[in-house]
Amino acid sequence: MSAAALTPLYTREAIAARVGELAAEISRQYRGEPLVAVCVLKGAVIFFADLVRQIDNAELRLDFVRLASYGEGSVAGRLRFERDLETDIRDRHVLVVEDVVDSGRTMAFLLKTLAARGPRSLRLVALVDKRERREAPVRVDFPGFCLDRGFIVGYGLDYAELYRALPDICVAEPRD
Ligand code: IMP
Ligand code: MG
Repeated sequence: MSAAALTPLYTREAIAARVGELAAEISRQYRGEPLVAVCVLKGAVIFFADLVRQIDNAELRLDFVRLASYGEGSVAGRLRFERDLETDIRDRHVLVVEDVVDSGRTMAFLLKTLAARGPRSLRLVALVDKRERREAPVRVDFPGFCLDRGFIVGYGLDYAELYRALPDICVAEPRD
């Protein structure tokens, strides 16, 4: 499949407003406490860049993970780190920053793995919380937008590595 038909869903203005609200909420939550923000590559990279610059926290550290599936195809496959954290998160407040939570499998794996390292707290902010296909019980502590159905691209989100740099988030439908 080459190109997709794109229909705007969340404009850059709507995204900016919501990211500002999330940053304010997160700043309040961790007031005066050191925080490690963890970007889940690649999809969260643009959200992460916008969000962390608005978090008011003098002891904010940034780190990055990249996960990959292996085994029996991407759906049934197991997950592993393609890039792990550099930071020792023991006894630290950790905030995972993800683009989309869909089935929840990716975040269930990541949160379980990070929890085993003994952080002081572990929370999840996701730009989009898709609940239609949830399989793993993942709680999004700070949801940006909730979406019932549809495949979305832009603002970091891809379809076959395309469309990540679009400033707006659009619903993508295959064109044939
Ligand atoms: P999971 O199903 O919750 O494990 O989601 C796995 C990954 O699929 C997410 O981290 C996203 O990167 C990606 N994903 C899920 N839904 C969408 C979408 O609508 N657009 C782009 N990527 C998506
Ligand atoms: Mg992702």
